[in-house]
Amino acid sequence: MDLLAELKALEASFRAEIAACSDDHALTELRDRYLSRKRGLLSDKMRLLPQIDPAQRAVAGQRANELKRLIEEKLQERASEITASQRAAKPDLIDVTLPGIRPPRGFLHPITKTRREICRIFMQMGYSIEDGPELDTDYFNFEAANIPPDHPARDAQDSFYISEDTLLRTHTTPVQIHSMLRRKPPIRIIAPGRVFRRDATDATHTPMFFQVEGLVVGRGISFAHLRGTLQTFAHMMFGSDVKLRLRPSYFPFVEPGAEVDISCFLCKGRGCRVCKDSGWIEILGSGMVHPALFDRVGYDPTGLTGFAFGMGIDRITLLKYGIEDTRLFFENDLRFISQFGG
Ligand code: DAH
Repeated sequence: MDLLAELKALEASFRAEIAACSDDHALTELRDRYLSRKRGLLSDKMRLLPQIDPAQRAVAGQRANELKRLIEEKLQERASEITASQRAAKPDLIDVTLPGIRPPRGFLHPITKTRREICRIFMQMGYSIEDGPELDTDYFNFEAANIPPDHPARDAQDSFYISEDTLLRTHTTPVQIHSMLRRKPPIRIIAPGRVFRRDATDATHTPMFFQVEGLVVGRGISFAHLRGTLQTFAHMMFGSDVKLRLRPSYFPFVEPGAEVDISCFLCKGRGCRVCKDSGWIEILGSGMVHPALFDRVGYDPTGLTGFAFGMGIDRITLLKYGIEDTRLFFENDLRFISQFGG
């Protein structure tokens, strides 16, 4: 008896039979026919091993085991092929055993996150959120904000006019006027929103960007309140160790006016790329409400004072996350936007 030759013949017949199998049932039968412990063709051969010449036994035993492994492998391979072709034939067949597809989760735009954070901080200080139109009149955007007729911002080159006296607002300051007309002092509001300027687009300019305006009007409101408020804001936004610096500056709608810097929260004032080695970062413009604005809205200015401030949300976001190009905010590349999480 040549067991090796018989194993070879068995392999050949198995290969032929498996190629003809076209469903799971046939595969199960084939497995039984060859591997079943009691009746399997290969099991029968293996049972003969003890009877053959010991010199041949080791080789034959090894071959028999190899054949067993091969049969198992081929059975599995064929089972996958059959499943795949069944699925291809019925593409709408749902395999409930496959892991599900997780739906992508939404996340907030970094500018939205910053806007919400700014609003949250001021709401904690008792401010309410005010809204104003993005399309406004020349009167509200400039005139009522005390911006003189020859001011460069009024140039059609710098603003998007849609008619002689209507334009996309160039800042959120006109919301101060709208709010004062809508409300009576005391007033404590912030107004976040989009603003538009005809700037050439580059790493720090986009034709549309975001600002938050703040306005407080009441009796006895002083410059110290302005400073204290902005100090609190800076601490909550950038960390309790940042220092505030106010520099005298000019804005037509405030008197006196100040530009506000914070000590660089990245290098702690030592000098770095973000603060351009100065240790300070400018974050907003502010000042005491110019009496001309009270006049425009018909308030009796006796004993009435107020402070106002305006800041760029995009700029704050750039600073906070160390982003170098503001255009990234509007390209909507998910690889960038999704880094900011929920
Ligand atoms: N409107 C100014 C701008 O767009 C920012 C600003 C500065 C707003 C000073 C204010 C302020 O309320 O007091 O550049």
